Amino acid sequence: MVDRTMLASQRTLFEMPRDICYLNAASYSPLPLKTIEAGRAAVLRKGQPWTLSAGFANQQHERTRAAAARLIGADPDDVALVPSVGYGVSTAAKSLTLPRGCRVIVLENDHSSPVLEWHARAGTQGLVVETVRQPDDYDWTSAILAAIERPGAPPVGLASISSVHWSDGGLVDVEKVSAALKRQGAVFLIDATHHVGVLDLDVTRLAMLTDRIAERLRDAGRSVPDKRFRAPHILSLAFKDRMPAGLIEGLASEDIYVAPRLGRMRISPHVYNDEADCDRFVAALSKRLRM
Ligand SMILES: Cc1ncc(COP(=O)(O)O)c(C=O)c1O
Repeated sequence: MVDRTMLASQRTLFEMPRDICYLNAASYSPLPLKTIEAGRAAVLRKGQPWTLSAGFANQQHERTRAAAARLIGADPDDVALVPSVGYGVSTAAKSLTLPRGCRVIVLENDHSSPVLEWHARAGTQGLVVETVRQPDDYDWTSAILAAIERPGAPPVGLASISSVHWSDGGLVDVEKVSAALKRQGAVFLIDATHHVGVLDLDVTRLAMLTDRIAERLRDAGRSVPDKRFRAPHILSLAFKDRMPAGLIEGLASEDIYVAPRLGRMRISPHVYNDEADCDRFVAALSKRLRM
């Protein structure tokens, strides 16, 4: 049995100097060296397309579909390749017939890609888009279930949500939400951008690093989201009034990289990070916030 808690930092697989403290994988994940090599080879190949066999593109597509299917326990035939989440959502919307007057559940401050399409269709298709408010306690699952099951409300036709919330890293229990939607015969559209390939594979390691940051911040008197309600690989910090101006830029000037997200600070370590990165981040943040 593999003990995933022992996964060492994978920094050597990346082009990442030791003095870079990169905690921003959820925005721009650096490409592993192997992927950079594959990208170079692909660009060179496109320079001489006459050398490619007729079946080459299809083989690549099938390989990609099989790899994607493995990540989510699906069959390659269940997978369609699309150029973006927004495009995938609008394609799905074209193939669905939702009853007039039904509700479409979306999340406040979610990424626009799973949300916009439904607002655009609401008028012409008679849909009622209901936005679940960002809960103060980070418990998105309870908030979504309460919205779906609200007594007296019109039936739900569809929920279109990010299963790891785009701006606060909140984790939605997709099994529970799925069961509640099924009871109403509703469709569940999951934007799993921050979910697939992390939660099911390397949960324990990533969790360790965000837990370490969370513990140290809590020790310093800062409020951090409860572990039960957040994705294990993302930690999003809220500020009482607003995030102090220049905080993200100040950290970046020390080669510590995190993302601002709608007034919160989103910290997203990945396989190249280690405990030293976490401690360095907490020390720098504490100094800047005088915690
Ligand atoms: C939750 C989520 N969904 C979707 C996207 C990207 O959407 P698209 O592929 O439509 O540009 C992002 C990108 O940051 C995201 O965080």
